[in-house]
Amino acid sequence: MSDTNEIEDSLTDAPLALPLDAWRRARGARMVTFAGYVMPIQYDGIMAEHLWTRESAGLFDVSHMGQLILSGEGVDAALEALVPGDIAGLAEGKQRYALLLSEDGGILDDLMITRAPMGLFVVVNGAVKWDDIAHLREHLPDEITISHLEDRALLALQGPKAVDALNRALMLEEALIFEIGTADTTGVDLAPAPKVASRLGGLERHTSLGLPGLSEPETVRHYTRLSRQNYAIDLGLFPLGSCTMKHNPRLNEKVARMKGFADVHPLQPQETVQGALAVIQELAVWLIELTGMYGVAMAPKAGAHGELCGILCIKAALEARGEDRPVILVPESAHGTNPATAAFAGFRVENIPATAEGRVDLAALKARLGPDVAGVMITNPNTCGLFERDMKAISDAVHAAGGYVYCDGANFNAIVGRVRPGDLGIDAMHINLHKTFSTPHGGGGPGSGPVVLSEALAPFGPIPFVSLMKDGCYKLVEEESAGELHPQTFGRMAAFHGQMGMFTRALSYILSHGADGLRQVAEDAVLNANYILRSLEEVLDAPFASSGPCMHEALFSDNGLADGFSTLDIAKGLIDEGFHPMTVYFPLVVHGAMLVEPTETESKATLDQFIGALRSVARRARQGDTALKSAPHFAPRHRLDETLAARKPVLVWKEAELAQAAE
Ligand SMILES: Cc1ncc(COP(=O)(O)O)c(C=O)c1O
Repeated sequence: MSDTNEIEDSLTDAPLALPLDAWRRARGARMVTFAGYVMPIQYDGIMAEHLWTRESAGLFDVSHMGQLILSGEGVDAALEALVPGDIAGLAEGKQRYALLLSEDGGILDDLMITRAPMGLFVVVNGAVKWDDIAHLREHLPDEITISHLEDRALLALQGPKAVDALNRALMLEEALIFEIGTADTTGVDLAPAPKVASRLGGLERHTSLGLPGLSEPETVRHYTRLSRQNYAIDLGLFPLGSCTMKHNPRLNEKVARMKGFADVHPLQPQETVQGALAVIQELAVWLIELTGMYGVAMAPKAGAHGELCGILCIKAALEARGEDRPVILVPESAHGTNPATAAFAGFRVENIPATAEGRVDLAALKARLGPDVAGVMITNPNTCGLFERDMKAISDAVHAAGGYVYCDGANFNAIVGRVRPGDLGIDAMHINLHKTFSTPHGGGGPGSGPVVLSEALAPFGPIPFVSLMKDGCYKLVEEESAGELHPQTFGRMAAFHGQMGMFTRALSYILSHGADGLRQVAEDAVLNANYILRSLEEVLDAPFASSGPCMHEALFSDNGLADGFSTLDIAKGLIDEGFHPMTVYFPLVVHGAMLVEPTETESKATLDQFIGALRSVARRARQGDTALKSAPHFAPRHRLDETLAARKPVLVWKEAELAQAAE
C-alpha cells in the first residue's frame, strides 16, 4: 500500500486547473483526453502497483483497468456504500482519496475519486478481486449494481439508469433531431395570411411538415455533438489495412482550394484552363518518372476504375493482334476488385494459388500460361503485405507466353522511390492517388486512379488526355483529334479528363516531398508496419511473419484465440480502447485475417499506444475474457447484429405510426 499521507498532502494543497491535474502532477502521470475529459494514464512512483497492468503506453481503458465513471441518480449513495466518506459533499473539480475496505475492514485498495461535470471518477486497482468486495453489493441501491467480469472486480455499472447515466456521462448517446425538437418549439407567430385563391390545384398542404423545431444553439450543438462521434484520421490512428488511411498534409488542401484550381470547370474553353492542363501534364510526367513506365492515362476516377482502364488496354491490344485470349489469371490473395474488373471486362477469371509464404506460386502460374491467357493481374506489394519477389520472373514468363502483366499498384506507397514497376516488366498499373499521394481515400467523393502504361499498351489508352502541342499550348485530345493523334485508343471511359482536386493535391504532395522525401515515405511505411508486426507477433498469430519483412501492412490471424473468440471480438474490443478497428477477414487466404496498415505518417508514440491497446485486447481474447464478447461497451452503439444491420439498415427517420404502418 502506498504512502497515503503523501498522496493526500499533494492533493489537498495543489490548485486544480483540470480534474485530476494535481494527482497527475503529484504522480508524474501522463494525461489523455477521452470523450472530452482529461484522464491520467501511466503512473510512476508509489502508485504504480495500483495501476493498470497495461504496458507503459496506451489509452486508458475504462472497462479493463478498473476506472469507473459514475454518474446519475444513486451514484453518491452507491459510492458511499463502497467507500465510506462524504462523497455527496465532494465539490466539482475536487478530488478525494479514499480506501476500499474488505468485509473485515482490511484495506483492499486506495481509490481516487473526482467529481467532474459528467459524474464521479473512481480509480480502482485492477487487481482487486470480485470475491473480495462481493459483500459490498448488498449496500447498493437497486438501480445500480456493480458487475464483475472474470477475475476483475469493479468494471461496469449495470441497470437501466446506470447505463443511461454512463452513456450521458461519456456523451455517447445523441437523440435524433426529431426527438429533441418538436414542430411547435420554435417559429414565428405571424398574423393569419389574407385568403388568396390557391393556384396549387388542390395540392396545397393542410398538415404540418413535421420538421423538428429547434433553436439555433440547440441545432448547432446537436450536429456538433454528432460530429464528435465520428472517428477520423484527424482524431487518431486509422489502422485499416489495404486502405491506407494516412494523414493528408494541409498544404495539399490549401493548394487544391486555390481559386484557379477549385473553380475550374471541365467545360471551360481550353485556352482558359491552360494552367490546370499544365498541372495535369506535370503530374503525368512525375507519375511516369516514378514508375519507370512509358505513358499514363489520367482519366480513371478510382483504383478499380484504373484496373478497368488497364484491362481494357490489354483487351484492345489483343484485338489489334487479332487474338482471342479469354482468360485472366488472378492470385487467390488478390484484392476483390481485381477479379471483379477482369470479369466485368468480359474475361474468365482463374485463380493462381499462393505459396505457403503468402506469395504467388510462380511454378503454378507458369504451368497455367498458354495461348488462351490474356494476362495476369497481380497486386504488388500484395494484400498479405508482402513484396512479390518473383515479379520480374512472372512478367518474363507471361510475356514469353504472349500475355500482358497488370499490376494493382494501390500499395505503391510501400515502394515509391525505391522500386520502379517499369523495371519489373509491368505493362499497366493503376496508382491510387488517394492512397499513395495522400489525397484523402476516396477524396470525399470520387478518387483518382491514373494508370501507367508500357510502350506496348500506351497506344490503346483512353481519351481524353492532355498533350503539349508544338505551339507550347496544352490541348485535350478528344474524339475529333484522336483519329490523327491517338488512333488506337479503346475509347472514352469517363466524361471528363480526371479529378482536378486529386491532381492538385497529388502534385503538391510529390513536389513538397521531393525524391528523398518520397523514398522516405516508402521506408517509413515499411518500418512502421514491421514495428507493428514484430511487436504483436507474440500475442497474435502472424501467419507470414517468417516470410521476411512485411511491406506496408502487417497481417494477423485468429489462430490461438480462446474457443468461441474471433477476429470480430478483437475489432470490437479496439473500439473500447479508443481506436478504429483494423481491416478484418481480408485477405481471404488467411482465416480470421486482421490487416493492420499503420501508414508512414504515424509517430512511434502513436504506434506504441496502438500496440498497447491491441496487445491488451488480444490477450483478453486469448484468455477468453467474456466481457470482450459484448464489446464495444463505450461506443454509441454496442455489439450490433451485423447481418441485420447490413440487410435491414434503418436509414430514414419515420414517425412511429408511419414506421408501424410500413411494417
Ligand atoms: C489493393 C487494392 N486494389 C484496388 C483497390 C481499389 O481502389 P479504389 O477503392 O480506389 O477503387 C484498393 C482500395 O484501396 C486496394 O487496396
